[in-house]
Amino acid sequence: MKLRTIDNLDLRGRYVLLRDDFNVQIVDGKITDAFRIEQSMPTINKLRAAGARVAIVAHRGRPKGVRNMEYSLRPIAEYMGIKLIDDCLDKDFLANMQDGDVVLLENVRFYAGEEQNDVGFAAELARGYDLFINDAFAVSHRAHASTVGVAEILPSYAGELLAAEIEHLSVVMDNPQRPLLSIVAGSKVSTKIGVLKALAKLSDTLIIGGALGTTFNYAMGGRVGNSLYEADQKDTALEILDFAKQNNCRVLLPLDKGVAKEFARDAVRSNKDFTEIADDDVIIDAGIQTTERDVAEIRTARTVIWNGTVGMAEWAPTWSYGSFAIANAIAEQTRAGKLDSIVGGGDTVAALEACGVKDDITYVSTGGGAFLEFIEGRTLPGVAILENN
Ligand code: 3PG
Repeated sequence: MKLRTIDNLDLRGRYVLLRDDFNVQIVDGKITDAFRIEQSMPTINKLRAAGARVAIVAHRGRPKGVRNMEYSLRPIAEYMGIKLIDDCLDKDFLANMQDGDVVLLENVRFYAGEEQNDVGFAAELARGYDLFINDAFAVSHRAHASTVGVAEILPSYAGELLAAEIEHLSVVMDNPQRPLLSIVAGSKVSTKIGVLKALAKLSDTLIIGGALGTTFNYAMGGRVGNSLYEADQKDTALEILDFAKQNNCRVLLPLDKGVAKEFARDAVRSNKDFTEIADDDVIIDAGIQTTERDVAEIRTARTVIWNGTVGMAEWAPTWSYGSFAIANAIAEQTRAGKLDSIVGGGDTVAALEACGVKDDITYVSTGGGAFLEFIEGRTLPGVAILENN
């Protein structure tokens, strides 16, 4: 995929509308994970150095077209040390901008026209700018006014982060080193059917874990107690297993689990296989045998794609056992030059960070839904519009 990039543009004095994904977690006004912001900085710094006048358009949360200050981008502007423009449709500040200035526009989702990709709203958003740069890979699976609408109006280009995401993910999708192992976990089969099928087609081995794995265990007749799983997805799970078999993909399901009598951080942990789980047991993490098997699989793979933690990794140390073992094994093999590793998804990236191994991974995607849709082979509308035809 060839994208129009900013490499050869003369940007001095030009008004640039830059789309970034700053949809980060903020607790008590503090950013708890700045990964997406940090990854956006190379493009911002490049534009600044080139003398562009940059207004960043971004969203946070799902305020549904209402100006709800709970979703304000102010903490992000403060974190970045740049000015926040209170309304993304304001144009008055443009006249006072100097070359190299960067400002952040308030949450674009305060307008209903954003998610509707309303033509009039997009035209108003684009007004006053010379060009549009999309660096928000993580929201490029949404055909919104700030990802697609403005790109239809202004000359539009891919930023450095977006181009890097497409380049790294494409290498793995198009020409992976084999054996290729995919590890998919998370909570719902219903949201991951597409990606599970796509990965079953692509991978030599597919590990399914987390609550997702529990649903598969249930479908295969395993005992799941009082755990989170989707009884109504039994047939879908069986269909996915059959699909994987037809595509010569080996599927590995959980063998045992870390369980407790209540779903709580400080609950007492025990290890049980699927014949031992009692009706009042709650599964909270992968088990010991499962984790040992997963680590052994990672050690024989040449490429690993990982999305989704296999337990409550945020409840460390008791319930992070499975996820942290996977994170550490992937990092170790990648460091040793034996593995290409691709990791995506907010919780999964947080687990890498908690283990202090994020920098060891070959490529960590900023995308959650966008990462999954790309792997599924779906067209991301915010990216497709930047293609060089
Ligand atoms: C994300 O966090 O994955 C993106 O910012 C997209 O957010 P959305 O799912 O609310 O559109």
